[in-house]
Amino acid sequence: MTVDLVVRNGTVVTPAGRSADAGIAVDGERIVAVGRSDQLPTADREIDADGNVIVPGIVDCHIHNREPGLEYKEDWESATRAAAAGGVTTVVGMPNTDPIIDRPEHLQLKFERGEASAHVDFQSYVVVTSDNLSLIPDLDDAGALGYKIFLGSTVGDVPPPSDGEILEAMELIERTGKRLGFHEENGEIVDHYTAQFRAAGKNKPIDFAHSRPVIAEQEAIERMLTFAEETGVKVHMYHVSSGAGAEAVARGKDRGIDVTAETCPHYLWFTEDVLREKGNVARIQPPIRDSDQRDRLWAALESGAIDCIATDHAPHTDEEKLVDDPFGNTWDAISGFVGLETEIPALLTFVDQGRLTLEEWVYHHAARPAQVWGMYPQKGSLQVGTDADFTIVDPEHEWTLEDRHTLHSKNCVTPFEGESFTGKATTTVVRGEVVYQDGSVIGESGYGTRVDV
Ligand code: DOR
Ligand code: ZN
Repeated sequence: MTVDLVVRNGTVVTPAGRSADAGIAVDGERIVAVGRSDQLPTADREIDADGNVIVPGIVDCHIHNREPGLEYKEDWESATRAAAAGGVTTVVGMPNTDPIIDRPEHLQLKFERGEASAHVDFQSYVVVTSDNLSLIPDLDDAGALGYKIFLGSTVGDVPPPSDGEILEAMELIERTGKRLGFHEENGEIVDHYTAQFRAAGKNKPIDFAHSRPVIAEQEAIERMLTFAEETGVKVHMYHVSSGAGAEAVARGKDRGIDVTAETCPHYLWFTEDVLREKGNVARIQPPIRDSDQRDRLWAALESGAIDCIATDHAPHTDEEKLVDDPFGNTWDAISGFVGLETEIPALLTFVDQGRLTLEEWVYHHAARPAQVWGMYPQKGSLQVGTDADFTIVDPEHEWTLEDRHTLHSKNCVTPFEGESFTGKATTTVVRGEVVYQDGSVIGESGYGTRVDV
């Protein structure tokens, strides 16, 4: 038998373990075999993995692709071009676009735009506000991956629902069987300190971080866990930034609540000192924390409190990020930065440092996000019969991100500029198509498709 594509001569790594001198055979869009190189069939197209590591395609369940409406920052084409170049095969877009993704027509529009231009596979969350509780079942029928609530103000100023509305939304979402994720910062705490700091002239980037204290995250998690316990809905905590937040998640898991959580490479890599060193470039909400919180976040990742790694890829223009004046008045700067092309390098650097095994990395960055959001094993696995999504990485390649303009996003401000890594994606395969190889995005815009859930 001759198949369409075979990759040989790699080390295949899944959460269950690794096999050297191994590879993957693909026919059409699906995996037909995983095994020893010499036992795989012949193929029309052969890729020599050259001793590198082959893993299930990385799933990034938290990006801001900005389309529809904010295409001056990023669009589906540029976001998924960055994903392909970063070794990411599935992305999930956030709903704080223009219009916000709060009704079936808007979700449909977002899906149509993705079908027209994406390089990798994609999905989207829908947002729940005070205005759309009655649409929760329709949003499920329209194919949303899951629901999101912003607690407190955020980029895009999506108004938070009241606690009563959140409880009612949880009851409605519970009936859909889908998961509800939170931007978990207590808005009243954040608004109070923001106003106080501004009035006192505390305008530095580090002041921004301190205006959003850890307790705002911890309290929001604990309150939502109380509501989740009452309603039985599955919940998710996006971008957990602190050890205290992650420990609150762990206590929820101990209570038997179906709560999952994600953290991001920047919370594991940097401490708040990056705001003193790189200024508003590193401004993000929730903010990057001090070293004690980072150490506790690492401990929580190691003990199972954190399920997923995702980027919170959030492109903004240089002007919005005050790039020309990085230590300018932080209240004039916007929050967020890109991450799709530095997430695998950051995680592989942690592997190189002995902080994670390759198997643990793949669990948190492919298998687990797919499981949490109901896409497994179609995504996030290397099981025979599933989508042939995989990423080949060179875990030993040492490099420095010298110039952010080499990234593929439309806007590419990132505090990872200037950082050095050990590890990089070399090849990205989505449903049997090579979309990125050796430094070039070679896939066609529009090849990516919505993941059916
Ligand atoms: O820093 C952030 N930027 N945090 C968010 O929650 C939203 C994001 C954005 O959309 O730019
Ligand atoms: Zn986000």
